[in-house]
Amino acid sequence: MSDPIAYVRERQRESLAELIDFLRIPSISTQPEQQAETAAAAQWLADKMKQAGLENVEIIPTPHHPLVYADWLHAGDAPTVLIYGHYDVQPAEPLDLWESPPFEPTVRDDYLYARGSSDDKGQVYIHVKAVEAILKCYGRLPVNVKFIVEGEEEIGGESLSHFIPQNKAKLAADVALVSDTAMVSAQQPAIVYGLRGLCYAFIDITGPKRDLHSGSFGGGINNPLNVLAHIIAKLKDEDGRILIPGFYDEVRPLTGQERHILAQFPLDEAAWLAETGAPEPWGEPEFTLVERLGARPTLDVHGIIGGYTGAGAKTVLPSKVHAKVSMRLVPDQDPEEIGRLLKAYIAELAPPSVTVEVTVGHGAPASITDFNIPAMQAAAQAYATAFGQEPVFMREGGSIPVVSAFQSDLGVETVLMGFGLPSDQIHAPNERFYLPNFYRGIETSIHFLQNLG
Ligand code: BES
Ligand code: ZN
Repeated sequence: MSDPIAYVRERQRESLAELIDFLRIPSISTQPEQQAETAAAAQWLADKMKQAGLENVEIIPTPHHPLVYADWLHAGDAPTVLIYGHYDVQPAEPLDLWESPPFEPTVRDDYLYARGSSDDKGQVYIHVKAVEAILKCYGRLPVNVKFIVEGEEEIGGESLSHFIPQNKAKLAADVALVSDTAMVSAQQPAIVYGLRGLCYAFIDITGPKRDLHSGSFGGGINNPLNVLAHIIAKLKDEDGRILIPGFYDEVRPLTGQERHILAQFPLDEAAWLAETGAPEPWGEPEFTLVERLGARPTLDVHGIIGGYTGAGAKTVLPSKVHAKVSMRLVPDQDPEEIGRLLKAYIAELAPPSVTVEVTVGHGAPASITDFNIPAMQAAAQAYATAFGQEPVFMREGGSIPVVSAFQSDLGVETVLMGFGLPSDQIHAPNERFYLPNFYRGIETSIHFLQNLG
């Protein structure tokens, strides 16, 4: 019987074909019309876990999208690894910008193009294939393994956040392993030790009870769209400082040591800028670009709805307008407190001539992982073996809500062992996964489990 590395190398074609099947399922968690497809992705994954030799495979219903659990717990006193990922994906819109349809996975050059290819189906499937290879070759794993895969990560992970504190024994582990982040480049792996948190909010403004002619009523009735613009303009100044009173109160200051570590980070600013297509970088002048991207909080508007947005012109005072806003948070900001501060500030800005409502949606605290735990060494060595390069340690600006829950509810630290690339276009049209990273990822996961055992 071959060893697991030879085993996966001989079966790359089959692994790719399976991933393509997984990616065909439009498991868009935020869209109610994709509820059945989202459940189908959970079922698909559960079936593959069974075929991989995992035990106690369960689809756990929740008020929203199901969780998938599986384990293999016959390694005695060896450590237990809790492997997390998500099978849900972001909406694929705008569809016309995709070169091949988002749910018809297509290989071009060395990339697999599809929504969810990098974030996160391709990355979570890596670990299923790794476990399968070791079990098929040796009949046993060097460590105990538990999988928990959710379908609500892209919408804040609420069901899992309730499940974790109620199932502490079931999820008990020595360390968690998550592949849902990116490397620095195809040559340079990275272990993320800090993630930002998030607070998402909706602003809804109502003026008149119906749309009004702007000639007959303009000047005498306040236009909610103008009010929305005023409010949004007061959330942040031109340099990126957030103007919500109290917003920075709990921000843990960056230490000199951490600023020093972040200054060593190998960010190629020109290449990074070229990737975005923006004319120049921007942000808080007293912080470096690397600091702005991972270690400072931000506020962004993601959508504004209101008035006439069809072709041509229309003179109307809209009745109702809406905005979607999020704030990325850093330690020790509390998402609920930040939501309250935003509400209070907007209530103060709102004129009595309209009705302004702020609804705070999902949130997650930021997380910082202790990178002196043994599993970090196992991960660093695994990367070095599979990629021929030691990883760098970095902070990431995105959020993975479960990581702080693992810390606070289970006392478990997470190794964020990512295989994406910054150019994967996650959440955007033409999301892709670099296939050599898919295959090397499977090998890295095998080495990691073996190093830890
Ligand atoms: N995989 C991302 C997190 C991420 C983003 C890692 C960028 C590395 C680079 C994750 O699936 C994600 O997008 N999370 C959401 C969570 C939010 C909705 C709570 C995010 O960050 O917007
Ligand atoms: Zn993700």
